[in-house]
Amino acid sequence: KPRLYSGMQPSADSLQAGNYIGALLQWRDLQETYDAFFSVVDLHAMTQPNNPAELREKTRRTAAQYIAAGIEPSKSTLYVQSHVPAHAELAWILSTLTGFGEASRMTQFKDKSQRYGQDGTTVGLFTYPVLMAADILLYQTDIVPVGEDQKQHVELTRDLAERFNARYGKAFEVPVPVIQKDTARIYDLQNPTAKMSKSAATDAGVLWLLDDPKATAKKIMRAVTDSEGSVRYDRENKPGVSNLLVIYAALTGRQIPAIEDEYAGRGYGDFKKGLADVVVNEFGPVRERALDLLDDPAELDRVLAANARRAAEVAERTLGDVYDKVGLLRRV
Ligand code: TYM
Repeated sequence: KPRLYSGMQPSADSLQAGNYIGALLQWRDLQETYDAFFSVVDLHAMTQPNNPAELREKTRRTAAQYIAAGIEPSKSTLYVQSHVPAHAELAWILSTLTGFGEASRMTQFKDKSQRYGQDGTTVGLFTYPVLMAADILLYQTDIVPVGEDQKQHVELTRDLAERFNARYGKAFEVPVPVIQKDTARIYDLQNPTAKMSKSAATDAGVLWLLDDPKATAKKIMRAVTDSEGSVRYDRENKPGVSNLLVIYAALTGRQIPAIEDEYAGRGYGDFKKGLADVVVNEFGPVRERALDLLDDPAELDRVLAANARRAAEVAERTLGDVYDKVGLLRRV
């Protein structure tokens, strides 16, 4: 089976609808045909201000949401990044192949460093994409399903793999990013030209997977639309309504024109009520399962440990080969 790799940061108590629609839904389907590895990237999450007890809790919660959304730990390898030391080790090697200018061009770094300022921006935030490249390359990955915002990081990963292979001999598969066109970017409900994000300025525009269903419905009813009053997809002129249509279509598997037809001649209130039902019906059971799993953290930790052993086996093989190729003295 071809190999798949993807991951998410445990940067909040709950995943948001963009993570679910842009990533998890695809992962769930793809795990049937790929040898899939999914990590909770706790080391990456340390590049943002964090509190140790909260980081641990968010890591478990993120893993629980993967499973609740249908990632099966007996089928896919679902583990915590820091449990496999090879990630940090390969990141060091790759950092010696990464140009300073090359890393400086990463748009996510530029955005985040601007937000954190000179003193809040760490070297870890700067080398974040190199650690992400290590995640992917350790597993001889063929495809990386991600949202649009991660594409540049996967391109960097490809460049590093090609550079290493050319310089030292082939150690890595060169991975391809897979981005589902229609759901590559889910937008904030209050600010529908900005992507929905766990770190959004206000909570009102973010749909949380683990939110109370009433709160979710309320946020949808209050979503920003426009004054035209017709349920019609037009990204340019109707970003709010278009975003809601994309969410509706993604969660029901229906085509946007069919949804437009259903709501033709009806107001936004009806449409939003319909969407609130769709979202609550989808998120509700996922939320219940996640909360159940979190009731037994010891069992969850056991599953994660077993999966980490499986991941480490693959990762150690690649790392050993890399160490040999770059000329590090073999440990005996
Ligand atoms: P993260 O944790 O920010 O997001 C996880 C996944 O969710 C997607 N996503 C979205 N998709 C559509 N619309 C949105 N509004 C939206 N918000 C988030 C992201 O594109 C991503 O697929 N650097 C990565 C984590 C990572 C990783 C990896 C991914 C670390 N190592 C190796 C793939 C392979 C990140 O911060 O994702």
